[in-house]
Formats: sequence, structure tokens, C-alpha cells
Amino acid sequence: MNIKSAEFVCSNTRTDKLPAPTLPEYAFIGRSNVGKSSLINSLTNKKGLAKTSQTPGKTQLINHFLINNTWYLVDLPGYGYAKTSRTNRAEWEKFIRYYLRNRESLQCVFVLIDSRLEPQKVDLEFCSWLGENGIPFLIVYTKADKQSGVKTDQNAAKFRKSLLQSFEEMPQEFITSSENGLGRDEILAFIDEINKQ
Ligand code: GTP
Ligand code: MG
Repeated sequence: MNIKSAEFVCSNTRTDKLPAPTLPEYAFIGRSNVGKSSLINSLTNKKGLAKTSQTPGKTQLINHFLINNTWYLVDLPGYGYAKTSRTNRAEWEKFIRYYLRNRESLQCVFVLIDSRLEPQKVDLEFCSWLGENGIPFLIVYTKADKQSGVKTDQNAAKFRKSLLQSFEEMPQEFITSSENGLGRDEILAFIDEINKQ
């Protein structure tokens, strides 16, 4: 798919202020600093579109980006950020989980996993929650440029094994790097297919 246009539309802290659910949308979620905003920039080929930072906790709102005037990419705040207060974390929980469960135009959720890490409990629990709530999701391993392909494959295999303890089937997986564009075409092709349905 060609990205002809990618525009920031709005940031929201409240789910009742979101754009009307008239276009298909795809949300990106995962631990703070895993690379959600960077991946959105890589997919759209627009470096400053979603704000990125070395400091975890950069994205605090639900951000909608309109692509080719026909569908939305949605950048979400990260979970599992240790320095966030308990109240903040509870707020995140309420607001993001409400959005994920109730957003009728949400086609699926891309769950980002840091390809350098062993399986993390918080990621596995989050995937289980998506499964329990019937929210379709895919797995995206990020930052693959930071290590060898062999290491990435080993960590992906470990994550797969852990996830298959609670799921019968493995969701589709993508290995990506926002540095060198690895996995970009595959994700866009996947979205294109759903948009055509
Ligand atoms: P929050 O909004 O804080 O939850 O973080 P995020 O998941 O949006 O992460 P973000 O895209 O801001 O990236 C965090 C840091 O990781 C930044 O310093 C990025 O430059 C870096 N980064 C993200 N993706 C990649 C990647 O594929 N390769 C490399 N080498 N660095 C990456
Ligand atoms: Mg972000």
C-alpha cells in the first residue's frame, strides 16, 4: 500500500471525544518505550508525526492519525511504566481498556513486544486480557536492528511458547525495525487486506 497522506487529527484523554467511528482503525499498544510511536512514523514515512522519546511515558493520550483519508492509525500510551503512580496507572487501565473494548471501528490491535527481551509477564497478561475480551490482536516484535536475526528469532520463539500456554493458536507475528523499515511492507499489506474487506 502507498501512503499518500498521513495527518495528525486529535489527541484525547476521554473516549467520548474521539473522532466518529466511521473509518477503520488500527491501534498500537505495548510497554512504554517499546517503539509504538516510532513504528507509526516508520509506517507512514513521516519522522515527526507521532512524538517519540528515549524517556518512557512520552505518549499519554489516544492519538488519531488519518491515513490516505480513509483509515486511522492510533498511537496509545504505554503500559507497565514503573515510574507512573498507581493512580495514573489505574486511570490508564480504565481509559485504554474502555477504548479497546468499546471502539466499534477498531479492526485489531498491534501488540508491540521488545524483540531483545525474554517474555515479560505484563505483555503476556495483556495479551490474555485481549483474548478474554475477544479483541483481535497481532504481535509485533520491535527494535530488531539492535541485535542479530538469530537472537530476535530466539526471543520470538520464547514469546510464542509462553503465549501458547494460554492460546490455542498463535496470532500473526511481524518482526520490525523502525530504524531500517523491516516489517513495514508486511504490516501495511495486512492493513490493506482488512480495509478491502
Ligand atoms: P511511550 O510513548 O513512552 O509509551 O513509548 P513508545 O512505545 O511510543 O516508544 P518510542 O517510539 O517513543 O521509542 C522509544 C525509544 O526507542 C526512542 O528512543 C526510539 O528512537 C527508540 N526506538 C523505537 N523503535 C526503534 C527501532 O526499531 N530501532 C531502534 N534502534 N530504536 C528504536
Ligand atoms: Mg509513544
